[in-house]
Amino acid sequence: MAQATAPLNGDQKTGALSNGKNTLTSTENRTGRQNGVPIEMETIRAMDLRQIRVNPDDFGLMTYDPAFMNTAACKSKITFIDGDKGILRYRGYPIEQLAEKSNFLETAYLIIYGELPRKSQYEDWVNDVMMHTLIHENIKKFVDGFHYDAHPMGMLISSVAALSTFYTDAKNIFDPQSRQLQIFRLVGKMPTLAAFAFRHSVGRPYVYPDNEMSYAGNFLSMLFKMTELKYKVHPVLEHALDVLFILHADHEQNCSASAMRSVGSSHVDPYSATTAAAAALYGPLHGGANEAVLVMLDEIGNKNNVPGFIASVKEGKGKLMGFGHRVYKNYDPRAKVIKKLADEVFEVTGRSPKLDIALELERIALEDEYFIKRKLYPNVDFYSGLIYQAMGFPVEMFPVLFAIGRTPGWVSQWQEMLLDQEQKIARPRQIYMGHGVRDYVMMGKRDEPKKGKNGA
Ligand code: CMC
Repeated sequence: MAQATAPLNGDQKTGALSNGKNTLTSTENRTGRQNGVPIEMETIRAMDLRQIRVNPDDFGLMTYDPAFMNTAACKSKITFIDGDKGILRYRGYPIEQLAEKSNFLETAYLIIYGELPRKSQYEDWVNDVMMHTLIHENIKKFVDGFHYDAHPMGMLISSVAALSTFYTDAKNIFDPQSRQLQIFRLVGKMPTLAAFAFRHSVGRPYVYPDNEMSYAGNFLSMLFKMTELKYKVHPVLEHALDVLFILHADHEQNCSASAMRSVGSSHVDPYSATTAAAAALYGPLHGGANEAVLVMLDEIGNKNNVPGFIASVKEGKGKLMGFGHRVYKNYDPRAKVIKKLADEVFEVTGRSPKLDIALELERIALEDEYFIKRKLYPNVDFYSGLIYQAMGFPVEMFPVLFAIGRTPGWVSQWQEMLLDQEQKIARPRQIYMGHGVRDYVMMGKRDEPKKGKNGA
């Protein structure tokens, strides 16, 4: 069967008309035959296009959608985003309400199980997660093996992968109890792995989890405890970190969630799939933009240089980092919450001089025709890096913090994918653009490139 790679201007003409019966109809020029493709939930099934053929013997019509700009790969009940209106909801609950009233572990429960927990469910869940914060002593040795300047995100990715060798029961992905246990372990151990990676990179001894503390408080203790018997966490910073985790907990089919689903669709264990998700997050286009914001603010250096910087962005000499989003064409609702949070954090840590530059950038950009026309607004990364830095995190830790917050989202997306009867192993199609068939040529008979005088 030949693939339909020819343009649709020969035997067949597509008439993209919705005929009121919620079908997309195309007409074959050659035969006059009409093909109706049902429209359901404002979507057509790509497989239905197979019935449309450019040539009688071809494969059937495919869609070409690099970067999945217009393709839904799943049905999901987890997260809703309306990018034009700046709306983000987990399981129907607005992010603003969760950030104000919930805490990270309760939100994680909501994301994973679909409903807010009753009191006893919440207490059991917190207990189960915190019971699994300890890691096997051999993982400590594993982290020890990294070079002193290893990036903490690289260490986190590798040690999550190593977890699959410690919990071989995780392979039983269709056993609900096993899945449940791995979810406790992943949500519980992620901060410990992250903190151990950090302590290793600064040459300090590892701090074991303290399960009497909150999830965020325990993480801060494992990061920053020195010789004191019990680490005293500042409640404002503990709350700020908890809210930042909530804001990062899920974001529907982003690059790392797609990696989690795609790799998980091969039925590998959840630690291996989470490793893939964390690796996707490591990239600067995904989890690394907040670092780029700090670099940009450093380069601008002073509030007075902001107009000149904006002018250079408009001339195409760079981007205003922390602005713009593939989905949000309005103010990112997470950025609004973070901006408020920044004030609370700076009350404790002292105001970052970079905040004035950021505020001035935002003020000027939001009034400027270039940004208004392109619907460019601050995104989640515009202010988060400033808070992380004020709390004492080095920039290398930023994607690691993102990974901790995103873990409930990843495991929830993974579980939803596994239980979805319509899902199979992820395997996109391609449009082949290479050579046609050709015969093998022995090495001595292959053309050598002609060399110039100097062998160039
Ligand atoms: N500064 C200046 N111009 C911009 C920016 C920006 N930050 N973002 C987009 N534009 C312009 C872009 O040049 C283009 O202009 P024109 O129409 O004249 O060619 C127009 O706006 C549309 O941009 P696009 O690149 O087609 O938009 P996209 O949806 O492909 O890119 C983005 C989205 C987030 C990659 C992009 O806005 C960007 O690079 N922003 C800066 C990096 C950043 O802050 N990333 C964090 C994203 S949020 C974190 C997460 O959820 O993972």
